[in-house]
Amino acid sequence: MKGIILAGGSNTKLYPMTLITCKQLLPVYDKPLIYYPMTTLMLAGIRDILIISTRDDVPKLKRLLGDGKQFGINLSYAVQEHPDGLAQAFIIGEEFIGNDCVAMILGDNIFYGNGLGYMLRQAGKVKDGATIFSIYVDKPQEYGVVELDENNNPVAIIEKPEHTVSSYAVTGIYFYDNRVVEYAKALKPSARGKLEITDINQRYLEDGKLNIKFMNRGFSWFEADDEINISRAAKYIQTIEKLQGIQVSVPEEIAYNNRWITHEELMQSAQRYGKSPYGQHLKNVADGRILYSSIKPGERPIWGTEDESLKQKD
Ligand code: G1P
Repeated sequence: MKGIILAGGSNTKLYPMTLITCKQLLPVYDKPLIYYPMTTLMLAGIRDILIISTRDDVPKLKRLLGDGKQFGINLSYAVQEHPDGLAQAFIIGEEFIGNDCVAMILGDNIFYGNGLGYMLRQAGKVKDGATIFSIYVDKPQEYGVVELDENNNPVAIIEKPEHTVSSYAVTGIYFYDNRVVEYAKALKPSARGKLEITDINQRYLEDGKLNIKFMNRGFSWFEADDEINISRAAKYIQTIEKLQGIQVSVPEEIAYNNRWITHEELMQSAQRYGKSPYGQHLKNVADGRILYSSIKPGERPIWGTEDESLKQKD
């Protein structure tokens, strides 16, 4: 399974903050926005990740994240010349995807919730069709929306509907089989001139190959795409981190718990980040001082597995 982070776009909604950078490099509380979607793919067990951004921003993202070795993953980069729609990612990424399945996450999407890794890994196991995730929201008209019939079966996926069809938004993480490349190439631009991911999802739905997972209310999802949403997400992350004395969405921690980097490599990162709360957190992880639910103090979880199998395996 390959992974794509789409971090392109013109980001004009965030001017002047995004005059010289893409939004994915802006901070959400204590780390750059892109850390959140990147760790979400890592929680899904994905190690080969393509980051797609603008010609100006790819070099900056590369300076921040490099080849991913410090996170135990392989990062590569590609340019999206024009923001022609989310589905274009599969055309740009065709060679990278090869014959594999692919998960795509939008570079401004933040997910948080217990069991997220497990849920994503399950989606990644399906080799035929597509899996998307939907969540109940207050303003469905701002998103792609799942229309349901009287038996709650999905009948259509509609992009930013003018009239309420349901309150279930389609979030920005998608799992597809290899057909997605062919489907993306066959797309025609929508009325707003974009190759729409919604049209791809609709195609899978019509083929009877779309699996929609509804995230329950214990999950939090943010689309950090404007000043209000970025500040909301930042406050949320700050609240959790300060209350619990932990850090959220730390790639080195996930890599270590997934056995993708060694204890020594984790310590090197901890030293690099020094006295910052991030560096301190890495040190705490390395010293076994972070308590994970369902396992004994000092043990490391295998993330993405079911609770009962959260046993130490070293
Ligand atoms: C895009 C998709 C939409 C989806 C949303 C999730 O919206 O088109 O279907 O619900 O991402 O973040 P956009 O960011 O283009 O407004």
